Amino acid sequence: MTRLYEEDAELYDIAFDWDISAEADWLVERLQATTVLEPGCGSGRMLEALADRGCRVVGIDTSPQMVELARLRLGTRGEVFEADMTHFDLGRKFDGAVCPINTLLHLTPPELGRHLQRMARHLEPRARYLVQVGLVETGQEPFAGSHWESSRGETTVKVDWVDEELDAVQGVSRQRSRIEVLSGPRAGEVLEEIHAMTAWTPATWAEAIEASPFEQAATYDGGTKGQWPRVDVSATGGLLWHELSVAA
Ligand SMILES: C[S@@+](CC[C@H](N)C(=O)[O-])C[C@H]1O[C@@H](n2cnc3c(N)ncnc32)[C@H](O)[C@@H]1O
Repeated sequence: MTRLYEEDAELYDIAFDWDISAEADWLVERLQATTVLEPGCGSGRMLEALADRGCRVVGIDTSPQMVELARLRLGTRGEVFEADMTHFDLGRKFDGAVCPINTLLHLTPPELGRHLQRMARHLEPRARYLVQVGLVETGQEPFAGSHWESSRGETTVKVDWVDEELDAVQGVSRQRSRIEVLSGPRAGEVLEEIHAMTAWTPATWAEAIEASPFEQAATYDGGTKGQWPRVDVSATGGLLWHELSVAA
């Protein structure tokens, strides 16, 4: 696991603190759920947005630092547990689940398979699981990357997140994150890390879902600001939302 998710989870929390209210509205409408599980919940920004909209939320994450931040953020409005999304048992079922911003790309294909088995056991029969997973084309060049700044209090961070290597045939990518603290108590610090991720094409993703207890109910383009139009299941892009339902 990386420093950004553990020792420096606080920097993650500042860096990824953009406005997700419209996306949370859209997710709540799609999910039609009162109880929602988020695996890999990080510091809880999505859990909080869903709790603000009346959902009873539960998050799990392997990082103790993320779990602590999410608990602080939620207070009594939700529960957060330290657990691995490929091997967990909460002893209850939910009527919806979400997993945003390519969190599932941290899992290898066998781990994704185990994760989806676990998720199916935690969902009511008609529940939807909305996962945001970018899909790439075979032979695609690494994308240019994302660059932004974010501030909280005196602290401003500059984030550069780039796909350094991408091999869609082997199904792997290496992403580099660089977080530079521009102002505040940690001004001048730079946190640079490599993340080994899985790369899915529409075909390999379809196979993985087919082999799981889920079926692909719909795919939405998550990259169009403020709109999530339905797209074909063969679509590629960095921020696709996949609506999964437990297969009958
Ligand atoms: C990209 S962050 C996303 C956090 C949060 N979902 C959000 O939207 O801000 C990925 C998170 O997944 C967690 N994670 C990675 N592998 C995990 C696993 N196997 N089980 C549970 N959490 C995991 C990391 O600790 C990190 O907090």
